[in-house]
Amino acid sequence: MISPKKYHKTVKIPPNGFKSINEFFNHVFKDKEMIWMGQNTNHLNDHNEIKEAMIEFIKSNEYCKYPPPEGFPELQELILKDLGLKNGFESLITAGGTESLYLTMHSYIELGDSIITSDPGYLIIENFARRFGAKVTSVHIYNKECSYKLTPKLARDNIDNKTKIISLIDPLNPLGSSYTKDEIKEFAEIAEEKDLYLLHDVTYRDFAKKHYLAAKYAPERTLTIYSFSKICGMAGLRIGGIITVPEMMEPLKAVIINDLGTNALSQIGAIKALKTKKKWIKRVRERTYKNQKIIKKAVDEVEGTFIPVYPSNANMMAIDIYDTGVSPDDLTEYLLKRKIFVRQGSYTSRFYGNRYIRLSFSIPKEQVKIFAENFIDLMGFLRS
Ligand SMILES: Cc1ncc(COP(=O)(O)O)c(C=O)c1O
Repeated sequence: MISPKKYHKTVKIPPNGFKSINEFFNHVFKDKEMIWMGQNTNHLNDHNEIKEAMIEFIKSNEYCKYPPPEGFPELQELILKDLGLKNGFESLITAGGTESLYLTMHSYIELGDSIITSDPGYLIIENFARRFGAKVTSVHIYNKECSYKLTPKLARDNIDNKTKIISLIDPLNPLGSSYTKDEIKEFAEIAEEKDLYLLHDVTYRDFAKKHYLAAKYAPERTLTIYSFSKICGMAGLRIGGIITVPEMMEPLKAVIINDLGTNALSQIGAIKALKTKKKWIKRVRERTYKNQKIIKKAVDEVEGTFIPVYPSNANMMAIDIYDTGVSPDDLTEYLLKRKIFVRQGSYTSRFYGNRYIRLSFSIPKEQVKIFAENFIDLMGFLRS
């Protein structure tokens, strides 16, 4: 019999005017004037060291060799150092947090297990879990009472005897909510008590005012998902990792996809990024943080709109426009026509997608100002 795991497929609907999702992304990618606020990527990476390291590597011609299958040890160690998880942990290099998430589901989900996630949230995690036969309990968190996040209490209320994983995206894509130390400790206690795993996706960690790692409190139950796409501005290079203790790493290594190693050029760039991070991180964080204020001012001018989580602890936020009667799909489409790429709520929510747009702001200040002006203008036009 064919395993039911093979049956879950994610249907992707292209935006209006495009034949396929691929055609749409090619269109936005190729348009050099497009203001890129739709993928939480970081466009403030004008420090040269990473580029230069990669150019040197290309010149050396060493890219004709396969790199070691689990990653260059130098990079593996730098990631652990970056997280302050030196002793007792291992890291595995992957082609981005996305591959790390996939490997986690592949090795930890058995048919019939359940996983707790949040809505809004990063739906790719749910889709991967379903592909391996999981039942997904997507907890509704779009309200002030829970501070727009999956709280320990909400997690407890939704655990059943099949729950295998609690997925914590911290800070949360799309809202930018994040966890306190006490909350992370409580999740660690829950994991011990209920015999389950924490998937701690820390992709946006470096944008948060403060951040706490579940791996420090529940090392033997936490899988930490790591990405170079956001703070390091390396999304197109597709590089990331997964960090856990050696016993938990074994099942991940058993389902490895890139058996011949992850892109060597990207690893060289990633090594340089971590070695130089102290020089540029403050600048990227500060500009990102200040950009929020420009957006907030514009939102405050448009009656009926608000930012659910402000300030955001990530480099993205949601703007709720529900009370204006304007649909997020229309607003997104009109902004795109004006060369501003943001995402409609349905990209990160099955239940609240008709309420908000999501936009990221690790981009130059001038571009954020263009968004702000167009947001005010288009909201006036669309609601009339
Ligand atoms: C929560 C979260 N995890 C993982 C990823 C994927 O990151 P990567 O580019 O490293 O695959 C994203 C990308 O937007 C994300 O928002």
